[in-house]
Amino acid sequence: MAYETIITETRGKVGLVTLNRPKALNALNLQLLAELVAAVKDFDADAGIGAVVITGSDKAFAAGADIKEMQAISFADAYLQDLFVGWEDLTRVRKPVIAAVAGYALGGGCELAMMCDFIIAADTAKFGQPEITLGVIPGMGGSQRLTRFVGKSKAMDMCLTGRMMDAAEAERSGLVSRVVPAAELVEEAVKAAAKIADFSLPSVMMAKEAVNRSYETTLAEGLRFERRLFHSLFALEDQKEGMTAFAEKRKPNFANR
Ligand code: CAA
Repeated sequence: MAYETIITETRGKVGLVTLNRPKALNALNLQLLAELVAAVKDFDADAGIGAVVITGSDKAFAAGADIKEMQAISFADAYLQDLFVGWEDLTRVRKPVIAAVAGYALGGGCELAMMCDFIIAADTAKFGQPEITLGVIPGMGGSQRLTRFVGKSKAMDMCLTGRMMDAAEAERSGLVSRVVPAAELVEEAVKAAAKIADFSLPSVMMAKEAVNRSYETTLAEGLRFERRLFHSLFALEDQKEGMTAFAEKRKPNFANR
């Protein structure tokens, strides 16, 4: 499929999606949403792909939802079309998705990064929820996901003042998993994705499912859920292979990847 707002490529078993609206700093319009969701779903369904990386440009991962597209929308339109509900599709992708963020990740851009499974940031990254400066609030999960990542005080600070967080603060606060030099960002993210793609895919998908469950349930339920998934993995050859390879001091050769 030919896309106009994103570029897709594969690097071995990694699907790489680059947001590509440079003149609008990758502002997230409805076309980009549709294309990104379609591309990531295609990678999710592709047996040759084990993990996905979403990135932007050096200047901007994404500077937010497209303000010019939203400017004239009425309440009725926003409500009736349930504006932005489509982004939830990205959180239903079952293979791991890594956000590789350089430059601005603002508003919907920060929210898109937080919908991914983890964020690798360039040292140039800047995160923010500046919607308050536009007379609105985050609409793609910022008030909920940012609070879970960085806690109430910082989330309130970001959502109420609209200030940006640099990469060092984002790492300190637990918003990003690691910070790398900007020139190495995509390479590092693809390397992390390739490492994941080399493990047993059912284990990888269950690890993702288990961590995500911790956000949706009680500790007791989450622990039971994790244990049942853990037990189920003993039904796979990959568990025998992984543990035998360890005992034999060799690299495992997983069947399901
Ligand atoms: N929507 C539409 N266009 C955008 C945009 C956005 N979110 N962000 C930047 N652009 C456009 C600018 O209008 C400009 O276009 P023109 O050349 O046609 O004027 C172009 O991208 C370059 O931007 P700037 O000239 O502003 O670049 P800069 O380097 O001076 O500033 C910036 C960069 C600080 C990121 C600034 O562009 C900015 O503040 N952008 C808006 C950030 C924002 O408020 N994001 C939240 C959006 S609302 C949202 O996301 C709601 C939600 O929760 C879902």
